[in-house]
Amino acid sequence: MKVVETISDLRSIRKFWQTESVAFVPTMGALHSGHLSLINRAKSIATKVVVSIYVNPLQFGPHEDFTAYPRTKEQDLQLCEENGVDLVFYPDTQELHPEGFGAITHVIPPPHLTNQLCGLSRPGHFTGVATIVLKLFNLVTPDYAVFGEKDAQQLAIIQHMVQDLDIPVIIVPAPTAREFDGLAMSSRNRYLPSDCDRQQARLLSRLLMAVQELYRQGMETTDETLTLAKERVLDESLYPDFQLEYLAAVNDKTFQPVAILEDDSRILVAARIGNVRLIDNTLISEPIRLGAPAPQLTLAN
Ligand code: PAF
Repeated sequence: MKVVETISDLRSIRKFWQTESVAFVPTMGALHSGHLSLINRAKSIATKVVVSIYVNPLQFGPHEDFTAYPRTKEQDLQLCEENGVDLVFYPDTQELHPEGFGAITHVIPPPHLTNQLCGLSRPGHFTGVATIVLKLFNLVTPDYAVFGEKDAQQLAIIQHMVQDLDIPVIIVPAPTAREFDGLAMSSRNRYLPSDCDRQQARLLSRLLMAVQELYRQGMETTDETLTLAKERVLDESLYPDFQLEYLAAVNDKTFQPVAILEDDSRILVAARIGNVRLIDNTLISEPIRLGAPAPQLTLAN
């Protein structure tokens, strides 16, 4: 496995791979089993796999966890190596933005996709994501890029960007990897050390499952269904630190809110447990698959 930190090294290796197919997995590091499932997906569709590891300052708001975001370089590189990655691009901000962020060109995704859900509490976040992802696509020039469905709004925005700007890459969605108790895998789960935090984190997938159950029983009106699901799952006296940010339903293709639930509705949830913000989502008609109870991958802080 090769690890490069500069654009010129990345480009010279990429030049050798003209006859290969390249699948790209962009990450911010702190790799966990969820990332490994993206890497495995990448390996199954291309002859070379490139992973980028870059904690992108542009996608963090001023009061978000950019500085505290976990950085676990050694373990990340080891996991990439063990999982058959061919090339890791590990740039720093000086390499990507030598002139600083002040005057760079931004990619601004369309408001109908960003003025809702995570875009409301994280203004500018998706501009930061789209800007770095387009830049990485231009550097890596992959045939495929694998994105987790866990970040469903991000995935919808990237798909839109690729279509709108005719970027020659195929976006490959990969299913959300879950812990045995339903918690969607996330680099931020490592901020949930106590049992109590962990139980509260489970509420996200439990809310999704409650909506699915009500839909199976015949409920269709979005507002009523989401309200009832919240009543069933959330008990403030049991979960004092759990703050629901949103529980919402969109059409999976248009990513616009729906008043009536249908099989192609996607249910999304975001919540804070103390300072930790978590998200999750599922297609309403697709059963949530729990992870194996086998020993889980644990990474030190
Ligand atoms: O999903 C992520 O980890 C990030 O948003 C991404 C796509 C690597 C861009 O920084």
